[in-house]
Amino acid sequence: MSSSRSSVDMASIVVLILAVVSITLTLQVADAKPFPAPDLKLCQMAFNDTSENCCTLPYTGAPLRKFAFKPELPMRVRQAAHLVDDAFIAKYQRAVELMKALPETDGRSFVAQYRLHCAYCNNHLHFPENEYPLEIHQTWLFFVWHRLYLYFNERILAKLIEDDTFALPYWNWDNQDGTNPLPNEIPKVWASNITIFPNAINKTSSLFHETRNPCAGIPGRIVEFQNILGPCLPQNYTEVRAQSSHLMWTQTVSAGPTPSTWHGASYRFGDFGGVGMGTMEARPHGPVHVWTNIRQMSTNKDSASDPIFFGHHANVDRLWEHWLTLPGKYRKHITDPDYLNTAFTFYDEDGEQVSVTVKEALDLNLLRYKYQEMPAKWATQGLNDPTWTFCSPTPTPADDAALIAATPRFNGSLAILSGPTTFKLKRRPSLSARHGEEMLELKAKLDFHTQHMQNIFAFLPNSTYQNTSIGCMEFIGCMFSIPHVGMSPDLKPEFTFRIGIRRKLELMGRAHLKDIVITLAGEKSAPPIPGESGFELTSAKIIYSKK
Ligand code: C2O
Repeated sequence: MSSSRSSVDMASIVVLILAVVSITLTLQVADAKPFPAPDLKLCQMAFNDTSENCCTLPYTGAPLRKFAFKPELPMRVRQAAHLVDDAFIAKYQRAVELMKALPETDGRSFVAQYRLHCAYCNNHLHFPENEYPLEIHQTWLFFVWHRLYLYFNERILAKLIEDDTFALPYWNWDNQDGTNPLPNEIPKVWASNITIFPNAINKTSSLFHETRNPCAGIPGRIVEFQNILGPCLPQNYTEVRAQSSHLMWTQTVSAGPTPSTWHGASYRFGDFGGVGMGTMEARPHGPVHVWTNIRQMSTNKDSASDPIFFGHHANVDRLWEHWLTLPGKYRKHITDPDYLNTAFTFYDEDGEQVSVTVKEALDLNLLRYKYQEMPAKWATQGLNDPTWTFCSPTPTPADDAALIAATPRFNGSLAILSGPTTFKLKRRPSLSARHGEEMLELKAKLDFHTQHMQNIFAFLPNSTYQNTSIGCMEFIGCMFSIPHVGMSPDLKPEFTFRIGIRRKLELMGRAHLKDIVITLAGEKSAPPIPGESGFELTSAKIIYSKK
């Protein structure tokens, strides 16, 4: 009796489990929201855009091709740009010349290629069923979209010069070595010999762009990640190098321990664009654009019209690969199916539209390219670098206790105005140790038409954007949102931003404290909209997540 009853129970349990599994699967299918490959004909001028129309994208009328790997391609090596030889420079120049000579009605042309970058940002690509246009920046699509964009651009250049070994060079701007040539000055390959770029090759080089920042072109001038818009004063190399290494370490090792911190916020079909950027996209990626060519490279719309864009993004792509090799149990590819199944449309080396999914872009062996190895000393520099010093007087436990006691707790909403904003948050030291990582998560309602840059400091309430160095030990990361020019002003979407904090707290000797004092030091000196902050923090908390 009892045995037959238990078998009935077993059967109904199995039925129940099956039902739950099938409901879950149905829900997952119904909920799946990857972006489909966009039809480039759906590109429209953004709503208040009056400049060049990047939506005049070519079509041959041929059906959309599906991407296929090309195992027959030789393994191509992307070289460090400062080390390439003159023969390579001549070959690369020739390839870009040929690309520039193609009519803009050809998807392989230089013009069509840079317009394609513009189309994927600033609200140009519309899907009939989606309220919001596509924006691949400031989302988890940032790294992967640019990888594929470079892949096809490189394949087109290779085909134009009939050389399948051709690979784009990368601008090794994270490398602070003082070698000759310097890895982090503008490499000669993209320079020109008109007056302001005396270290160059040829003033009509197809790889040069006339609106470069003249200061950035001074030979020996190294790229900066913080003071990028000031007057062109002599550089203090030691200081710039120390700050840049510290920023690289902070944004990559300490602030970027998980996919969501490194890649940015999840972004699915139906979401508005610009949900939140990852640490690398925020900095150093952003400032390198602006420092190099404020006119073209600092807008998403035009940035790919400077050929150095491709060397810059090759380095971003290389650093994504490098990030995967750093210690930490959560440094993995994103496994969310909506990410993996999102698809994009590009032009292939025949000028035909091709659709390719994110999951096809995650293995460089299959794409048949790799990076020439260069040291990334910043990655291991952290724990014993003597140049990383506290910017507050050496803190004692009593000082920390007094600071914590004097700091208000975040109470659910905070208007971020000019000047620094300081609050404290609860943290759980034992959970943090068990979990191995810990993140600060901020959510905000932003005015999306202005730029928001905040340097974030821990236990340094007097910090300001202008006067507090990113070389300070207390600098724990930065938050950045680019202006989304084409977005309707009525929208005030929520922005999410996460940074890892555990490594930095360990380094500061503060991993045991039950509270953290956070200061947001904003770049803006005044609120963008009179009477409003343009930036309202709606949530701030410490989380322990694998994502
Ligand atoms: Cu699509 Cu560096 O920007």
